Amino acid sequence: MNSSEFFVELNIDSTITESIMNKINDSTPDQWITILDQNLFKLSIDDFASDPKMCKVIKDLGAQERLSVLQFNPNVCFQWHKDKVRTGAINMLLRGFDSFCAFGTIGKGNLFTEVQKLEHKPNKYYLMDVKKYHCVFNFSEPRYIISIGLETTYDETFKYLTENKFI
Ligand SMILES: [Fe+2]
Repeated sequence: MNSSEFFVELNIDSTITESIMNKINDSTPDQWITILDQNLFKLSIDDFASDPKMCKVIKDLGAQERLSVLQFNPNVCFQWHKDKVRTGAINMLLRGFDSFCAFGTIGKGNLFTEVQKLEHKPNKYYLMDVKKYHCVFNFSEPRYIISIGLETTYDETFKYLTENKFI
């Protein structure tokens, strides 16, 4: 089992963490919405303006509808699941590096899951196969992560990113 079955780091160095975190810190509760039990702050393509490569990815993949920041409370585990609505996702962790995402293949006996751990590096985007089982553990601080929901599958997106030398 190879981690690239589940996720891959993009070779884009993001410069938007500070500006997005300023927006989050200045936000009011009415700017947050709850979808499927998750706290979500909507972003627009303009929020990615200083990451021109990511703007190109978002436009080329037609992903302008599902741009957001997700918030997780400290000391929570987001249960094993496969995403229902979106087919793929690109994420970047903003705050809450005392956390990790795990992807896995659940064994036949339902007791053991073979896992691969994704520990996000600062200012790095990751393509993730959200149609495979994954979970999140968050510990000491609130976790904020940019989420770009895709209509394209992991394999389609992987191919696009390879062709454009983004991975
Ligand atoms: Fe998910």
